[in-house]
Amino acid sequence: MSTIIGLSGSLRKGSYNAALLAVAAEVAPDDCTVAVESIAGIPLYDADLEAAGAPVPVTELQEKLDAADGLLLVSPEYNQSIPGVFKNAIDWLSSFPLGGDKIFRDLPVGLIGASPSWSGTINAQTAWLPVFRGLAMKPFLGETLYVGEVRGKFDEDRNLTDSALRDRLTHWMAKFAAFVAAETKQG
Ligand SMILES: Cc1cc2nc3c(=O)[nH]c(=O)nc-3n(C[C@H](O)[C@H](O)[C@H](O)COP(=O)(O)O)c2cc1C
Repeated sequence: MSTIIGLSGSLRKGSYNAALLAVAAEVAPDDCTVAVESIAGIPLYDADLEAAGAPVPVTELQEKLDAADGLLLVSPEYNQSIPGVFKNAIDWLSSFPLGGDKIFRDLPVGLIGASPSWSGTINAQTAWLPVFRGLAMKPFLGETLYVGEVRGKFDEDRNLTDSALRDRLTHWMAKFAAFVAAETKQG
């Protein structure tokens, strides 16, 4: 049984990316649990704050990541790149007291995302790759999932209404979960 921490990079209530993460957790295969966590409450990175003791939302998430088998990022795209709040959260998590080397090195990571444009976060997903490299993570590159034109795929309450997307996400999660399980076995 693998445990994957799922993080959405959007803080707003009506987030399509948070809704996509919720469905990803729902369709995950039986041998895998996606624990949906949040980056809410993580302040702007400040080395003086860090020197005074990392904020509780950071240390709590660090401990959960340390115990997890994998990480699933569901990233929006801002100005053709990574939203600042999401990158800021990862920067904090890679800092002390636990530190990026302990938490992120060799951790399997999957990445999906949704946006209203046709390209569905392809630029943001590309922008994440050097971050994964810098943290020595193991990115799942076997399949991609770019959810474009997302406004027509969820209803007002952010229920998924597009059955083809549900199928694509189910397929992607099965592949990603198998990747996480295989990497975990290798140690
Ligand atoms: C500052 C800003 C920049 C954006 N830039 C892009 C962009 O480059 N490409 C894109 O597809 N969507 C862009 N968007 C639209 C977001 O994809 C859209 O707001 C999306 O719904 C955000 O994700 P969420 O629904 O999970 O909050 C931008 C939105 C904001 C606020």
